[in-house]
Amino acid sequence: MLRIIGAPYGSQGQYLKSLLVNGKLAWVLMEIISPVVYISTIASFLELPESPSTSLPLFSFSNILSIPKALIHEIYARAGSNGSLQLVLITMWLTHYLHRAIIYPLSQKSRAPMHVGIMLLGIGFNLLNGFVNGYWVGSSFQQTNTTTSNNASDLHFIIGVAVFTMGFIGNIYHDHILVSLRKNKDNKSDNSKQQQRYFIPHGGLFGLVSCPHYLCEVVEWVGYWVATGLSSRPAILFAISTFSVLCPRALEIHEWYKNTFKEYPKNRKAIVPFLI
Ligand SMILES: NC(=O)c1ccc[n+]([C@@H]2O[C@H](COP(=O)([O-])OP(=O)(O)OC[C@H]3O[C@@H](n4cnc5c(N)ncnc54)[C@H](OP(=O)(O)O)[C@@H]3O)[C@@H](O)[C@H]2O)c1
Repeated sequence: MLRIIGAPYGSQGQYLKSLLVNGKLAWVLMEIISPVVYISTIASFLELPESPSTSLPLFSFSNILSIPKALIHEIYARAGSNGSLQLVLITMWLTHYLHRAIIYPLSQKSRAPMHVGIMLLGIGFNLLNGFVNGYWVGSSFQQTNTTTSNNASDLHFIIGVAVFTMGFIGNIYHDHILVSLRKNKDNKSDNSKQQQRYFIPHGGLFGLVSCPHYLCEVVEWVGYWVATGLSSRPAILFAISTFSVLCPRALEIHEWYKNTFKEYPKNRKAIVPFLI
């Protein structure tokens, strides 16, 4: 859907003037859904001593409350046996979303207000995405004869974790450059209102593309998929949907930069160095 309507928020959503929600609040509400649904779906597969009914793969409030206990129980019960792959995948997902939903918005000076429709679309996507990816991990805990590799020394797994980590660090790094631009805005002397809010980013892969944070995000989720042994359909669908949302948005942002800043570097591409 965002692919069709072009993800109109932030610098690309300034024509939307009604039904706006506070940008940071919308962001937190939208993103926090993903880890909560992911982990509570997984927890519903775990055998909890005090709540046997949670073996049904259903999302419920009682599952949310039992998450910390379930996770600690499973970490001790399964780490080193057949659950090490899943535990690393869970760690990757939660680390990403702890940063994305809490640390990242708190580090920002401001976020543009978001249209309520975009927020609801984001919530819907994260509900579905958190559920199907959590379901895959939760159900693979239970499989004995499975195509899923449970061997943490598996080559796919090692490469996947390395690629994910690279993407994660790159994503945070370039997001941080964007966040810093606005924090440093008092040092700038641009005239128009828009230029006071937005600046030309420099540093890292910004030398090559306008949206390296998006490029790194795609790399992250490709890495997550590879770490599943290339066997999780929800994970590859997530990587593909991330690219199909962020690539068109990067192209729009790239055009917008070129139209907004006359001095915008001519050699930059939108999202893939030297290509797109
Ligand atoms: N997995 C997915 O499908 C998906 C989808 C969307 C986003 N994300 C990730 O979420 C993170 C944020 O994405 P986003 O779409 O919000 O990125 P964005 O549009 O580039 O904006 C990021 C933040 O930086 C500010 N900003 C952007 N360009 C700026 C500039 N030139 N000067 C000063 N400030 C600037 C924005 O302010 P304003 O809010 O005021 O515009 C916003 O607060 C990224 O890491 C992205 O990869 C993932």
